[in-house]
Amino acid sequence: MILTQLVARLFRQWTAAGVAGAQSMPLEAGNPLTEYFFGNTGRTIHKWHDYFEIYHRHFARFRGCSPIVVEIGVAQGGSLQMWHRYFGPGTQIVGVDIDPRCRQFEDRSTTILIGDQADRRFLAEVRTRTPRIDILIDDGGHTMTQQTTTFEEMYPHIQPNGIYLCEDMNTSLIAEPRVPTRCISTTAFWS
Ligand SMILES: C[S@@+](CC[C@H](N)C(=O)[O-])C[C@H]1O[C@@H](n2cnc3c(N)ncnc32)[C@H](O)[C@@H]1O
Repeated sequence: MILTQLVARLFRQWTAAGVAGAQSMPLEAGNPLTEYFFGNTGRTIHKWHDYFEIYHRHFARFRGCSPIVVEIGVAQGGSLQMWHRYFGPGTQIVGVDIDPRCRQFEDRSTTILIGDQADRRFLAEVRTRTPRIDILIDDGGHTMTQQTTTFEEMYPHIQPNGIYLCEDMNTSLIAEPRVPTRCISTTAFWS
């Protein structure tokens, strides 16, 4: 497969803004996140589609339990809508992003905090504003410094039976090339 086809295929797998690009994608039977993503007519979501099996495996036990979910990296706000639908009524979502335009996604059950995930003082403010966190998803800037700083500051703050999920660790290695690049894992979980 030539490079442009490969890039186009990867991009289609990564982003679903609506049903048009989704029709050729396989549906993982019984996974509500996969079905939501490929049928999405709401705001754009940026996710690798093979993450959905992993999310559902670890997050399903929180559905219907009104969890408090923090997602670092809001972008167009599509994943916040997806998490609300997936976890159900009563869920509180806290979206964190460095881009102040993300404030537009705030509503009664969605809080948006604007700041840099590599700034420890800002992360202390996130802890103060969010005294309980059941699930934290790091889908922010994806550099190693951002991911490790966020982990150091936020992991001890997660509920004992909670989940800390860090996406796209491969881009962390690309962004800081002095680090050896043999590691190819892209997602990590701690609970
Ligand atoms: C991959 S997008 C998030 C996608 C979104 N979670 C979704 O699934 O649709 C990454 C986001 O991280 C934000 N970001 C980049 N650097 C950041 C930083 N240092 N602190 C907080 N957010 C950052 C960007 O502004 C961007 O909106």
